[in-house]
Amino acid sequence: MINIDTKILRTDSASIAVAAEIIKNGGLVAFPTETVYGLGASAFNENAVKNIFKAKNRPMDNPLIVHIDSFDMLPSLVREITDNAKILMDAFMPGPITVILKKNPEICDAVTAGLDTVAVRFPSHKCALELIKASKLPIAAPSANLSGKPSPTISRHVIDDLSGRVEAIIDGGECEAGVESTVVDCTGTVPVILRPGIITDEDIKEYIDTVIIDEHVLRSVEENEQPKCPGTKYKHYSPDAEVYVIEGEKNKVAEKIKELLSENADKKAGVLSCTDNSYGDVFTLRTENGNAGYAHSLFTYLRKFDEEKTDIVFAEFCINDKYSLSVKNRLYKSAGNKIIYV
Ligand code: TXA
Ligand code: MG
Repeated sequence: MINIDTKILRTDSASIAVAAEIIKNGGLVAFPTETVYGLGASAFNENAVKNIFKAKNRPMDNPLIVHIDSFDMLPSLVREITDNAKILMDAFMPGPITVILKKNPEICDAVTAGLDTVAVRFPSHKCALELIKASKLPIAAPSANLSGKPSPTISRHVIDDLSGRVEAIIDGGECEAGVESTVVDCTGTVPVILRPGIITDEDIKEYIDTVIIDEHVLRSVEENEQPKCPGTKYKHYSPDAEVYVIEGEKNKVAEKIKELLSENADKKAGVLSCTDNSYGDVFTLRTENGNAGYAHSLFTYLRKFDEEKTDIVFAEFCINDKYSLSVKNRLYKSAGNKIIYV
């Protein structure tokens, strides 16, 4: 069993210096980014990287993203920068996007799960950048949750999941985006979105004519399939409650959920709503401002249903806008693809 005395740090420069020392010495530090909290270790320290997997209970075949604070770090990580990658980096970095490139052989297999490619992200969050700068190292970091749980968007989520399992957690408040970065495979001639995020295919098309969205973004991986993004094959974003997505026109969604609530009257039910539909005294968490707001609150709310000891959650999905794909991708996974179209 892991039993570490976890330091809770602030974001002032003295605290960042303490966190950077921990990284340099092979320890683990959870830190905020503009998407979700990450759990970081030196990307060049194989033992430290392996400890990330232990702390999260993460399957060893699910590779990590390496975080940088400057393009000067790229040669130590990647073999070549394709034209696609260059365009996306110039357009969107620093920011909530990750590019996959052919890896530099120096990068240890623990980071890339033995793949020939590495995921690189240049975050825009001040604290994340200061930590990388003070450590003078690229930082390998997955989301700072226990494997399978919703990604953490506030420090308390990280404390709940990882306290006693990591050396330090930096409390940097709430993450802005609320969903993880857009992951784009840039190794080929056409970029492929492996995981949707706040930077959408439409945003990318302003710079590159053709963008492919990987088929696993909205459907689950069959047993005999090997997805391009290893993370897609694992159970994800699951609260303890059973989640159902009810998708369609607002009034029909309300009708269906009311029907389901009465069928499940023996269970403690909750509703995740993105409309003004009313469900009486049923515990309801409501998102605002379309799917950007849904994305921002989704993980926080999934954790809140657990705090309320909810058995079953009915999640509305009624709005189609630019951020639909990033919300649906997480929502479908948290529901284990239990989707009711009305
Ligand atoms: O916003 C984010 O991306 C956050 C913050 C902390 O930066 N990080 C994050 O990491 O979400 P993680 O490990 O939870 O998700 C990374 C995803 C996984 O699905 C993984 O399989 C995929 O990226 N990935 C990493 N390296 C890859 C590679 N070389 N090829 C394909 N997919 C890769
Ligand atoms: Mg994750």
